[in-house]
Amino acid sequence: MTLHAPFPTGRPRRLRRDGFTRNLVRENALTAHDLIYPVFVLEGRGRREAVASMPGVDRLSLDLLLPVAAQCVELGIPVMALFPVIDARLKTPDGREACNPDGLVPQVVQALKREFPQLGVMTDVALDPFTSHGQDGLLDDTGYILNDETVEVLIQQALTQSQAGVDIVAPSDMMDGRIGAIRAALEARGDIHTRIMAYSAKYASAFYGPFRDAVGSAGNLGKSDKKVYQMDPGNTDEALREVAMDIAEGADMVMVKPGMPYLDVLRRVKDEFRVPTFAYQVSGEYAMLKAAAANGWLDHDAVMMESLLAFKRAGADGVLTYFALDAARRLRA
Ligand code: PBG
Repeated sequence: MTLHAPFPTGRPRRLRRDGFTRNLVRENALTAHDLIYPVFVLEGRGRREAVASMPGVDRLSLDLLLPVAAQCVELGIPVMALFPVIDARLKTPDGREACNPDGLVPQVVQALKREFPQLGVMTDVALDPFTSHGQDGLLDDTGYILNDETVEVLIQQALTQSQAGVDIVAPSDMMDGRIGAIRAALEARGDIHTRIMAYSAKYASAFYGPFRDAVGSAGNLGKSDKKVYQMDPGNTDEALREVAMDIAEGADMVMVKPGMPYLDVLRRVKDEFRVPTFAYQVSGEYAMLKAAAANGWLDHDAVMMESLLAFKRAGADGVLTYFALDAARRLRA
């Protein structure tokens, strides 16, 4: 049979025809070393509570968290990120429990570093799990979130975490100047190895809903939002300004959050600054993929792996994801 149409000038499909050529020319790949696993930790012993809006995610007491840490080590996941669920009795308007050296976070950090010195431990610097109003900082009489007064508390919180032996502190509060203030305080105490991963471009997003259920701040927050300190979803130039400031103030790593709806921001940040850049696939992103998979509308493992690879393609050096364990297992299979 003779073909009369002119042949295509190029045939990109040649390299897509077989698995071996697809593997050969693939530009980006995900490994277990790219993953950071966020976990929710409870006071007490033998406690496991499911988070209804995050299927597959449990809040765990320390004794039940240790085997999870062992799995991270086994699977090659380099870092676990801790988020405390604080007893309502300990929540105050000023969130002072955040600076308690014998509090839940320092205890868990110490135990993890003792049992698994090779596993990186990261802690959140922000007051929302500790405040009775659920905001990340202190309020004035009008309910406005105070900046400089909050930063003073965040410094103490970060120092408390670093004293307990944490590897990475991650300010997620979006107060102005907190990276520089925390870096200066760490240096002044001689904590020169404590790494700072700055939540630099953190948006005022509705995708954090399930997380706020998990740490129990949703009820306290009520109808109020975080728009007076987290970024407006319409902006990207502003993200570059935030990242530039955090790098200048001493951040070792920066983050864009949420993840999937903000891949454009991630790409711009990576292209502009070329520093270690992370994305947070947040609770709402996890919840929506889980819900669709549970309904049989999406293939769970396929969308999990595709979404994580998309972060790498968009320029992320790593991803915080509630899928970390599942994805690492999949990568090994
Ligand atoms: C709190 C904090 C939030 C998340 C991480 N740290 C919630 C918020 O800012 O309200 C969200 C993570 C997620 O949704 O998975 N400072």
